[in-house]
Amino acid sequence: MKNGIEDLVIFGGYPAFDDKLHVGRPNIGNRQRFLDLMDDMLDRRWFSNDGPYVKEFEKKIAEYLGVKNCIVMCNGTIALEIAIRALELKGEVIVPSFTFIATAHSLQWQEITPVFCDIDHRTHHLDPKTIEKMITPRTSGILGLHTWGRPCAIEALSDLAQKHNLKLLFDAAHAFGCSYNGRMIGNFGSAEVFSFHATKFFNTFEGGAVVTNNDDLAKKMRLMKNFGFAGYDNVIYIGTNGKMNEASAAMGLTNLESLDEFIAVNRRNYECYRSCLAGIPGITLLKHDDGEKHNYQYIILEIDEDEAGLSRDELQKVLWAENILARRYFYPGCHRMEPYRSYFPHANLLLPVTEEVAKRVMVLPTGSTIDPQSIETICQIVQLTVENGKDIKKHLMSDDL
Ligand SMILES: Cc1ncc(COP(=O)(O)O)c(C=O)c1O
Repeated sequence: MKNGIEDLVIFGGYPAFDDKLHVGRPNIGNRQRFLDLMDDMLDRRWFSNDGPYVKEFEKKIAEYLGVKNCIVMCNGTIALEIAIRALELKGEVIVPSFTFIATAHSLQWQEITPVFCDIDHRTHHLDPKTIEKMITPRTSGILGLHTWGRPCAIEALSDLAQKHNLKLLFDAAHAFGCSYNGRMIGNFGSAEVFSFHATKFFNTFEGGAVVTNNDDLAKKMRLMKNFGFAGYDNVIYIGTNGKMNEASAAMGLTNLESLDEFIAVNRRNYECYRSCLAGIPGITLLKHDDGEKHNYQYIILEIDEDEAGLSRDELQKVLWAENILARRYFYPGCHRMEPYRSYFPHANLLLPVTEEVAKRVMVLPTGSTIDPQSIETICQIVQLTVENGKDIKKHLMSDDL
């Protein structure tokens, strides 16, 4: 408990936490169950190439999402690349800049131009009103993102795609376990792509999946992720190596059994943040729609510098000093990273909301390694910092901390 600003580390106090609190430390299901699966796998000596765990994992995900086809892969980025290729996207694809760089890279890697489109400041999703202005004769598709696991404007994007004869793909890396109008994410557009990276609330160490209700597309992607092999000595398509290994699938099967617990812990944490942060000037917690299923994977704050008295970056400095490793998210935006910064040096002029949001957003630690008491401490430090925003700002500037 900090009684005044003199207790903050930046003024010479002790850190609130001895160990660093991270955003997105991996969740682990039943350890013994995983080790038993590993034992069986070692006995069987079947480590990759559509093994029994991969098959069972794909079946279970498809059932859970109510989707016809699930193809698990070695990571979400390769899954995106394969989905993009299978959909025959080319020329230009409309995509948010406010996303993890993999969304843009998965296009550019295949010489497809990501056309960065601005977002809605309330939702952080692609703004349908802006999309139409970005469509050119070279546009072949829209790659939407369910940012923070909250469903993007699915219906508006579907209408636009249909009107302009574009393919619609979703990067659903954040949205495993989330629903839209009661239907699980995974059922929309031509296909949706998940990431099961260790930092996601549901992980397979590294991993990802494409899910689709289109059987032909699924067939094509199955070939593509296995070098195009249709059987022994028979390659019928260009492909790559996108296969998930058996150890990752075993981790997935183990973690699926604990999915409800992971979500319950995230929800508890979110509710705790929600009540402890209420009323702090200039600090807004992004709310989730309680009527939908959600994984509560991200605790997202927006910091309004005028009201809070200090900027997001200054608040982050105070928190890091206390071993609270709050993160800026998708800062500074894909358009300000290479190669896009060089390709489109003036993209910022078309992305005013992205620029603004990337300056305001901060993500706080959650997951099974954080308890409500730690959350209360984090929120108390945020409150103390904002209450003394002007003095802290002056101190940080004078010390150039
Ligand atoms: C929005 C988004 N897209 C794509 C990816 C890429 O997934 P992976 O790390 O599994 O390759 C991630 C996460 O890492 C992500 O957050």
